[in-house]
Amino acid sequence: MATTRTIIDDYRRLHPGSQQLYEEALRTFPSGVTHDIRYTTPFPIFIDHAQGSRKWDVDRNEYVDYVMGHGALFLGHAHPLITQAVVDQAQKGTHYGANHRLELEWGQRVKELVPSADEVRFTSSGTEATLMAVRLARAYTGRDKLLKFDHHFHGWQDYVVGTRAAESDSPQAAGVPDPTLGNTVSIPQGDISLVDDRLRQGEFAAVILEPTGASWGTVPLRVDFLADLREITTRHNTVLIFDEVVTGFRVSPGGVQAHFGVTPDVTTLAKILAGGLPGGAVTGKVDILSMLEFREDPAWNAGHRVAHPGTFNANPLSAAAGSIMLAQVATGNHHQHADQLNERLVNDLNYVLQQTGTQGRVYGLASYFHIVLGKDCPVERDGVEWPAHASPPPRMPSALTAALKRGMLNHGVDLMGGNGGFVSGVHTPKDIGETVKAFEDTVGEMRVEAIS
Ligand SMILES: Cc1ncc(COP(=O)(O)O)c(C=O)c1O
Repeated sequence: MATTRTIIDDYRRLHPGSQQLYEEALRTFPSGVTHDIRYTTPFPIFIDHAQGSRKWDVDRNEYVDYVMGHGALFLGHAHPLITQAVVDQAQKGTHYGANHRLELEWGQRVKELVPSADEVRFTSSGTEATLMAVRLARAYTGRDKLLKFDHHFHGWQDYVVGTRAAESDSPQAAGVPDPTLGNTVSIPQGDISLVDDRLRQGEFAAVILEPTGASWGTVPLRVDFLADLREITTRHNTVLIFDEVVTGFRVSPGGVQAHFGVTPDVTTLAKILAGGLPGGAVTGKVDILSMLEFREDPAWNAGHRVAHPGTFNANPLSAAAGSIMLAQVATGNHHQHADQLNERLVNDLNYVLQQTGTQGRVYGLASYFHIVLGKDCPVERDGVEWPAHASPPPRMPSALTAALKRGMLNHGVDLMGGNGGFVSGVHTPKDIGETVKAFEDTVGEMRVEAIS
């Protein structure tokens, strides 16, 4: 009797080298991984090299890549301009422990592109940027509390706790002290009256959010909510922080704030900012960023100033890669290309769902997309808008996410987290065509296996 091969059988068959390395990795890393999102059962793939929109694993399988360095690689892998800039700089030194011209150029480019950026302070990651943004807001307002929104992700530091679950009022995170958690309040996104209720008591230093909605727009946010937030935070003297670590330089060259015309007080940046190398930044109004400045006043320096060392802040390699990246971003050409391909991808994947009678929806904005299978998804404006109060949020059941991730890998496509991805300025129509075919095949295999 013929046996039916499953997605997971194919996965194991196609990736023996990755499986072997994973068994070794289990002896060195907790769960064999170095980032939570790379945890994949039965084992993750190990990549050998990458170029442009593609990468190759240790078993010589080739992938169209939509992880794109977790969203950092807006110009794809090993872009010649960035590679050259990094190699040139490495030959001149990787760390001067001093000011240098490139950091100035990098900072000036941020200022030119990002509307809220009166001043800039570089950090080494997005997590450090959100940590600094909240600290600045607290120092500036003299208040302790932070308002965030359920499912919005701001890195893994204690103030924002790093859980993507709905915290609703009482965030939880192992290892974070209760008094710290007690200063962070989380509420559902999209309801301005809830925000007003909280801010009215005058206890909140800041409101922080991902400005296209929770988890880089997985739960999209109505644009008018941003304008309402701007108005209400101003009214309550509360600092408005846009976390543009993902959306910055992606949704438009100047990020969400330039695209939708709402300027926050403080912005956090990372990913595209540093051209594929480590790096982050806090930018914002001079009176808030000036909490970092030294003054001729010992009492200020000792008691009011926000201190900020950081060995790799604005290191020359990240500054070199970031400056080239932002120079390319500024042209807007890559956005036009990536956004058009993303729109085509979203439409074609939805066509597959429609043609195969598969429940679900694909949606996105600019050059990112999200896939939901196994759920009916209400569609409002532009075919991508979820009700702002969707509860629970329209996440794909985890069995489906895992099967889609494995199936797409089997067919030569690597999705970010198994249910979405980033299109870059170097993806091609051929990449999109191959992705749509891989999706059609994978959805068909999932149906045969009745994975739901
Ligand atoms: C919106 C947002 N903020 C902050 C972070 C943290 O950035 P990093 O991973 O550079 O620490 C992330 C990471 O994905 C993010 O998506």
